[in-house]
Amino acid sequence: MEIKEINALYEQCRTYRRFRQTPLDHDFLVSLVETAHRRSSGRNGQPWHYYLVETPETVAALQPYMHWAAALPKEIGTPKPGEQPVSYLIMAQEKNANPFCYVDAGIAFDTIAFLAISKGIGTALLAAINRAKIAEILKVPDNQEVTFAIGLGYPAHKSTIVPVGTDGNLDYYVDEKRDYYVPKKSLKEVLVLK
Ligand SMILES: Cc1cc2nc3c(=O)[nH]c(=O)nc-3n(C[C@H](O)[C@H](O)[C@H](O)COP(=O)(O)O)c2cc1C
Repeated sequence: MEIKEINALYEQCRTYRRFRQTPLDHDFLVSLVETAHRRSSGRNGQPWHYYLVETPETVAALQPYMHWAAALPKEIGTPKPGEQPVSYLIMAQEKNANPFCYVDAGIAFDTIAFLAISKGIGTALLAAINRAKIAEILKVPDNQEVTFAIGLGYPAHKSTIVPVGTDGNLDYYVDEKRDYYVPKKSLKEVLVLK
């Protein structure tokens, strides 16, 4: 694949918060976890466990415990029934995980998100979740702690990167179609050439 094509895929690799209700291929979802799990891990500790939730009943049971789009009013940012993710990957860390484990999680999430968008599937990494409730629903063992949820589904909206306005506000916003616009700082602001 050309670097241009890879960059174009990364451009689409955004946070999606509304999804078409088409089911996702089970084997593909399993392959996402397999690839993510085989990536780098601090001290090779491999403390992350992935709970793949696909049955409509369990997906529905989890929906109330996800908190969406802190920058937007709830009625705009929270997916409504018929827009919610069709599957979730819940990431739980072993309680004795080493301090690098969040880097491992970032690498794993990026792997999942990039492979997913290469098949047109959108993701949302969610940290604002009710960890205790999710652990209870999924019967997560006591030696693990639910930390992140990844919502998955074919996107039902667009999301576009825009420059940061003169007021410096980094909050994402939506238009009348609830398509997203995500301000990103300029390269000049973040890249230091020495
Ligand atoms: C560590 C982390 C936690 C996040 N938690 C949430 C969350 O709980 N709810 C949510 O709607 N979005 C969440 N997001 C998505 C961010 O809001 C999103 O990445 C940011 O607005 C930039 O948009 P983009 O991903 O399309 O570039 C999270 C993202 C990251 C990296």
